[in-house]
Amino acid sequence: MSSKCQQTLQTGAKIASQYLAELSDRAVQPNEDGLNGLAALDVDLPDLPQDSSEVLNELHAHGSPATIASAGPRYFGFVIGGVVPAALGASVLASAWDQNTGMQVCTPIGAKLEEISSRWLIDLLRFDPACGVGFVTGATVANFTAICAARHRLLANKDWDVEQEGLFGAPPIRVVVGEQVHASVKKALSLSGFGRARVETVAVDDQGRMIPSRIPELDDMTLLCLQAGEVNTGAFDPFTEIVGHAKEAGAWVHVDGAFGLWARACSEFDNKTAGLELADSWAADAHKWLNVPYDSGLVICRDREAIVNAMTIKAPYLDDKSPYEPCWFTPELSRRARGTEVYAAIRSLGRSGVSDMISRCCRHARRFAGELEASGFEILNDVVLNQVLVRFGDDQQTKRAIELIQQDGTCWAGGTTWQGKHAMRISVSSWATTDEDVTASLEAMIRCGKQAYAC
Ligand SMILES: Cc1ncc(COP(=O)(O)O)c(C=O)c1O
Repeated sequence: MSSKCQQTLQTGAKIASQYLAELSDRAVQPNEDGLNGLAALDVDLPDLPQDSSEVLNELHAHGSPATIASAGPRYFGFVIGGVVPAALGASVLASAWDQNTGMQVCTPIGAKLEEISSRWLIDLLRFDPACGVGFVTGATVANFTAICAARHRLLANKDWDVEQEGLFGAPPIRVVVGEQVHASVKKALSLSGFGRARVETVAVDDQGRMIPSRIPELDDMTLLCLQAGEVNTGAFDPFTEIVGHAKEAGAWVHVDGAFGLWARACSEFDNKTAGLELADSWAADAHKWLNVPYDSGLVICRDREAIVNAMTIKAPYLDDKSPYEPCWFTPELSRRARGTEVYAAIRSLGRSGVSDMISRCCRHARRFAGELEASGFEILNDVVLNQVLVRFGDDQQTKRAIELIQQDGTCWAGGTTWQGKHAMRISVSSWATTDEDVTASLEAMIRCGKQAYAC
């Protein structure tokens, strides 16, 4: 078994290295030939086995050209980080280990790495050391898990056992969100039985920040959802003005910080993030700004008992005497050892490396905004983090510019609509982006922007 695995792994390592070596020089968006090549993988179900290395070689030959180079240095679409080298290597090792990381008994190492990473994360983000951390698939599930913990605590305070009795007949919980709440929070609300539409919505300002004076009266049956890093503008809700009052009223405060929470690891942003540490729960993505491979999200909860009660799974064959089980903090039972890559990324970067990565991405974002504006294009947001919204004329010209930029292939950024205006959204989230990458991308953006503007 082992020599077969080793041989296949060597093939995998060789072609993966080849792929990465070519990533900086190729077009970010796959070309027609690359996309057409996918047909070669669409074969009938094979009746007979095929050599494993051959399978990998075919995946590389026909699959790699159809990838978007989002692991490369000039991908600025959505909010998608790259992968730092230690996390990539750790991911291979974690796959070789193939540990079921729901329970300690299945994986002392998987459980230990998540325990250590939890401590490091809480230290990096400067949260209360008593917080519990769950390693989930992404921020959508992190939001869902946190909302379940909130649901548990608010209802347990009214002597209602929601895990046993469900929500039918339960004392009603109010949910308050901002107008620019991320769609994943709405999805999490629907999954947890609150409904997408059954929310009280607070008006926001021109950057998408909740306006504190517009927040309704809060009470001890309210879940208030805030955000650190609005997905278009990167803006932060004004936590110092909101969280303290909300807590005094007895509300549960949740913060969706899919990418913005990482700003807590960089003191440069203390004026934006101050006060969010007083909340009850937070969602973040390690696969975004910590630059670990997909899928890796984090839910952090001050009230350990609430998250554990909301997530615990009981069965006669599961250990209920253990002091710590990873599955107490996540919706899943069986899962991969996600903490391995988080551990490797944090250990290889260190506190200063994480902070530098955040700071560097934001410096690149400011440069994008400055030079695009100097070239005559309109910047729609205050560039406070890693997000830039740029407009290349009217809606049609902006759409055309985005198409030209994507076709050009030097870099990739997508479109969005911000306050009724179409814009291109640049999100700088990769450790790999250098000053030279920004120079090359700016040249392409300005050239394509001018071409679209001239039409
Ligand atoms: C602010 C915010 N919240 C939540 C999410 C959802 O994260 P995921 O796609 O990892 O579930 C995103 C994704 O872009 C986001 O930007």
